[in-house]
Amino acid sequence: ERIHYLQEIDSTNEYAKKMARDGAPDESVYIAELQTKGKGRLNRGWTAGIGEAIQMSVLLRPGFEPAKAPAITFAAALGVISAIRQVCGLEAKIKWPNDVVFGGKKLCGILTEMSSDMDQVEYIVCGMGLNVNQERFPPEIADKAVSLRMITGRRIDRVRLCAAMIDSVTSYFRKYILHGIDSIFDEYCSNSVIIGKEIRIVGGAETMTGLCEGFSKQGALIVRTAEGIREFLAGEVSVRG
Ligand code: BTN
Repeated sequence: ERIHYLQEIDSTNEYAKKMARDGAPDESVYIAELQTKGKGRLNRGWTAGIGEAIQMSVLLRPGFEPAKAPAITFAAALGVISAIRQVCGLEAKIKWPNDVVFGGKKLCGILTEMSSDMDQVEYIVCGMGLNVNQERFPPEIADKAVSLRMITGRRIDRVRLCAAMIDSVTSYFRKYILHGIDSIFDEYCSNSVIIGKEIRIVGGAETMTGLCEGFSKQGALIVRTAEGIREFLAGEVSVRG
């Protein structure tokens, strides 16, 4: 079986990378009830209590070149919003590069890591943390985070949602790996909350503002700034109100 349930682990991404180095197969899935050292992007952490979240990592061995890895996150985000739509009937959206949001607040974060040499990816680990049954968040993140329970007013069956998520993320991964970015690009763009909006992007040391024109086929963000068109491969975006 390729689906592994862990009661407690440091981080499902770290565990999946360890398993990858030990030869675990393509599409292995690692799900944890509790993470003691959950990781977020940009060296941040990720925490959730027992029963509250879905925390999973999928190991992929796509055998393509490293430049194709960032857009794996696009496929993951599409899989997550599709599972949320099927199980909860909610239309969640995507905030580049990797957040699934609802009403301007974050529902799910995605952390994609890879190991590769110059011309081939050895493996990719795509980790997703979805806020499901939290009733509230600590004050420091209360204005940024939301859970499915807070939106619907109902407790969500995590087993059903988790099964739908495994199905839909793996099918979007396959679609992207077999048929390329064109097979998912329009759907990604039509679910983006920042396309056509005035945004601020903090990318490394620089902060820029401009109009989000769209995305490149490698997963970069394209912004029309006062100095011209700029592309960002990573960064933190906010929509200017
Ligand atoms: C982010 O929003 O910065 C990304 C958060 C990713 C969290 C998930 S939970 C499952 C997987 N294991 C981790 O340690 N992180 C990801």
